Amino acid sequence: MKLKDVFISLSENQFLNQAAQKYGLKMGASSVVAGTTIEEAIEGIRELNRRGISCTVDCLGEFVSDKAEATKAKDQIIHVIEAIHDTEVDAHISLKPSQLGLDIDYAFCLENLKEIAETASRYEMFINIDMENYERLEPSFRLLEELTQNYPNIGTVIQAYFYRAQSDIERLKDYRLRIVKGAYKETNDVAYQDKMDIDDNFLRLIEYHLQNGKFTSIATHDHQIIEHVKRFVEANHIPKDKFEFQMLYGFRTELQYQLAKEGYQFCTYVPFGTDWYGYFMRRLAERPQNISLVTKQVFNK
Ligand code: FDA
Repeated sequence: MKLKDVFISLSENQFLNQAAQKYGLKMGASSVVAGTTIEEAIEGIRELNRRGISCTVDCLGEFVSDKAEATKAKDQIIHVIEAIHDTEVDAHISLKPSQLGLDIDYAFCLENLKEIAETASRYEMFINIDMENYERLEPSFRLLEELTQNYPNIGTVIQAYFYRAQSDIERLKDYRLRIVKGAYKETNDVAYQDKMDIDDNFLRLIEYHLQNGKFTSIATHDHQIIEHVKRFVEANHIPKDKFEFQMLYGFRTELQYQLAKEGYQFCTYVPFGTDWYGYFMRRLAERPQNISLVTKQVFNK
């Protein structure tokens, strides 16, 4: 088994997830998770805002298995929207349909999302529907299409490792889209496995949406992709207000600051909450060098 697969299996382990919640941010997670409370996260957001960076906030939550947990997650997200509005920070929301009950009952999940969208629309706040694994892809697109009949300020994510990504981006070209490589373990029936294929498709999708779509969020830590995009927008006269770069909180922070300084719109994905374990394991799966976050913490004690 590859190291990547080990971390993905660990991210799916509900027992370890529950154990981790009891002990606060451990194993180096504090450098990539902006605290366990919204107040702590707001502090981190203010610091980024001071540097001209906007934020998208993720209330971490995984393994939602009953309606009561999903309702709690919905209430928490609404609370976060209110906190963003009250503190006047430059931020919006990212959320995962599974957190709001997608695996339990589609209609129930849609109702939860409607309540969230109602609150966000009051403050003209954008909502991004994060994309999870392949089974949840089509239902998540359906949620988006149903919700935006009444709440247009919602977008989603296209994952470049899927073969179907090009037809999805054509279907969703009128939406604000975040384009990513893809973080989950998928089989070769549905997804490219080779890094070069994924990178090539990633660039094709970014270029397509920059030229044909609404707003594009290019979410990557890959400096080669970023350099390519800079050249592409310049050559094709794509204005800077049509796209932004995005990275995760705590990753390549200097590059984040530099891109903002160069005048590019930049948005940092800020996760917070006690349910940090699965998120942290997926980050280790993506880049085993991130394990240094763990060892630094262990040896700096
Ligand atoms: P990748 O991991 O492929 O690295 C490419 C190269 O970049 C590396 O070889 C190295 O040279 C450099 N590099 C990368 N990280 C570095 C670091 N920390 N320090 C130094 N160099 C580094 N996925 C998903 O399935 N659904 C979703 O909704 C989202 N949402 C999302 C939002 C945001 C803001 C981001 C940034 C990412 C996501 N993702 C995601 C995750 C995404 O799919 C992907 O798994 C990760 O971003 C990792 O891929 P990268 O493109 O960042 O580079």
